[in-house]
Amino acid sequence: MNSIVIAPSILSLDYSNVSAQLEILKESKAEWLHFDVMDGHFVPNLTFGPDILRGFKKACPLFMDVHLMVEDPETYAPIFIKNGADLVTFHTEALNNDLTRIQKLLDDIHGLGAKGGIVVKPNTAIEPFESVLQSCDLVLIMSVEPGFGGQKFMADMLKKVEWLKEKRETLNLSYRIEIDGGINQDTYRFALNAGCDTLVAGSYVFKNDIAKTIEGMLE
Ligand code: DX5
Ligand code: ZN
Repeated sequence: MNSIVIAPSILSLDYSNVSAQLEILKESKAEWLHFDVMDGHFVPNLTFGPDILRGFKKACPLFMDVHLMVEDPETYAPIFIKNGADLVTFHTEALNNDLTRIQKLLDDIHGLGAKGGIVVKPNTAIEPFESVLQSCDLVLIMSVEPGFGGQKFMADMLKKVEWLKEKRETLNLSYRIEIDGGINQDTYRFALNAGCDTLVAGSYVFKNDIAKTIEGMLE
């Protein structure tokens, strides 16, 4: 079993107080930072480009988990890897759920020396992607519609987590299982019980005591 990793989502960071919060994160038990890239097309919100990622990586050298919510991940994955992404996840929907394109992008990400994985929105089934699981370092299950922090956890998504856990065992693979959206003091336990080993948490971490909240999910 993989050990549990907390990936605070910097989407919910207080942008009037960035340096102080990054210092707290550096000293905290978080091993990763989750970096949400939104292009205003794939999702109705806009966030950060590669220069911002480079700055974050320099200020806070934690493992950078970059979640691409963009229409063109084939163009942007290499750019974010060049600017500090350690792991890149991209949405299958952005590639029309085309297994050939998905497999090629995973291979390209690995060829550039980064880790890679797929993400599915709540309305996208995970089973059709069984054949690419062997090339995923991580699979990310969205437990809210991507685009905004602070939404309600969709407990139904845990069925996908359970399926991924079972497949990992039967196929003898080792990908991580990450969940993103609506993680809080109650839902993190449901996610861990279902088989997640990597928890993204945005508003829950940044609206509370950052270090204590992260530690609480690891107890
Ligand atoms: C939503 C993003 C999430 C977001 C989660 O599209 O992918 O990473 O920051 O925020 P919370 O934890 O507040 O639901
Ligand atoms: Zn995310």
